[in-house]
Amino acid sequence: MKIGILGAGKVGITLATKYATAGHEVLVANSRGPQSVSEIFSKIAEPVTPATVVEVVGCEVVLLAVPWLKVPEILSPSLSWERRILVDTTNIFASYKQELVVADLKGDFGSEVVARLAPDARVVKAFNTLSFDVMFSPTPTNLKRVLFIAGDDKSAAETIAGLVAQIGLHPVVAGKLAIAGRQMELGGPFSSLELFVPVKQAASA
Ligand SMILES: NC(=O)c1ccc[n+]([C@@H]2O[C@H](COP(=O)([O-])OP(=O)(O)OC[C@H]3O[C@@H](n4cnc5c(N)ncnc54)[C@H](OP(=O)(O)O)[C@@H]3O)[C@@H](O)[C@H]2O)c1
Repeated sequence: MKIGILGAGKVGITLATKYATAGHEVLVANSRGPQSVSEIFSKIAEPVTPATVVEVVGCEVVLLAVPWLKVPEILSPSLSWERRILVDTTNIFASYKQELVVADLKGDFGSEVVARLAPDARVVKAFNTLSFDVMFSPTPTNLKRVLFIAGDDKSAAETIAGLVAQIGLHPVVAGKLAIAGRQMELGGPFSSLELFVPVKQAASA
């Protein structure tokens, strides 16, 4: 599959490397252009294609991995999604570099803001409930780590569940954005919730 990633920080680099290792064609863009992405990935063995934001948005699945405050800038109305899948990995931090400051959305919710900014995309929320240091840390023997997913489009959520399973996590599609997506956001019951399932159950689920 052709997977595009918007952002080449902790989340973007980790997922780009994992999906390239799994055999996907991976395009990555950041705010500074393909040359800068190329430098970031120059020491990584797996082939990742540096790209522009528009090229990334043309991929079958696009992972949104930028800071929350950059979301309105990157999801410009000029982008055309044509029902492609947009995976929102963001958390609504107004700052997370020195101290964690949570943005005040005045009752609104992050994934729904994303869905409004990309109205012709099929938005799926995933990869946001655990820190990436936790998400890919070793698991106890014979256990898989659960990753929650939410989305309004069933087939898009199932596609992302398949991609989540490919990189060693156990996907759990928890429901639609308005309920499960909210529960996955900062302060919600799924945020920071680390669960494991036995490998046998993971294989049959
Ligand atoms: N880190 C985690 O453990 C974790 C876990 C779950 C969810 N998240 C969420 O995932 C998102 C990304 O986190 P991160 O830790 O990967 O952040 P990060 O290390 O700060 O990286 C952010 C990336 O976004 C890019 N970016 C910013 N504005 C952009 C724009 N307008 N166009 C294109 N690219 C742009 C930056 O590119 P430049 O450097 O060129 O500006 C950078 O590559 C955040 O919303 C965060 O809350 C993070």
